[in-house]
Amino acid sequence: MEKVVNSFSGYTPGELSALFSNLSKGCEKQYRMEMAGLYGELASYYAGVPGEESTTGFEGISARLQDDLDALFPPAREISTENSDRGALRALKWADKVSRIVKSQLGRFATKGSSFFRDTNIYVCEICGFLFVGDEPPEVCPVCKVPRIKMMPIKRVA
Ligand SMILES: [Fe+2]
Repeated sequence: MEKVVNSFSGYTPGELSALFSNLSKGCEKQYRMEMAGLYGELASYYAGVPGEESTTGFEGISARLQDDLDALFPPAREISTENSDRGALRALKWADKVSRIVKSQLGRFATKGSSFFRDTNIYVCEICGFLFVGDEPPEVCPVCKVPRIKMMPIKRVA
């Protein structure tokens, strides 16, 4: 367990803010509003902490994703299995799939550059984090199977 906690030490404040924001949203979806609020407070705290922007680039993000898949997912799966936590195991399965998809998309972006996202839409599944790049999202999320209405468009920053 200590290994999991210590692995947060290499993140920038912005990355921690995004991480805790996602955890807050995850708790919200599970109707765990107290935890959602606490993670939301952490997200807000780290959003206000001055710090360096991530300088790792897409290769660095991709490498970090792989590190998470290799180092964090196995003990999380082990703990979830020991506790017969089916919800956690399902969330880990989704997170594993989504992380691999994002890693693949980062590779495509690194190869094709910004043209990969130009003139197309990007959607994110609010339930599992699945990213879809294209004109229209699929009828159901291929990872968690929720209907398309749960796939939100990502707004472009001018
Ligand atoms: Fe999904």
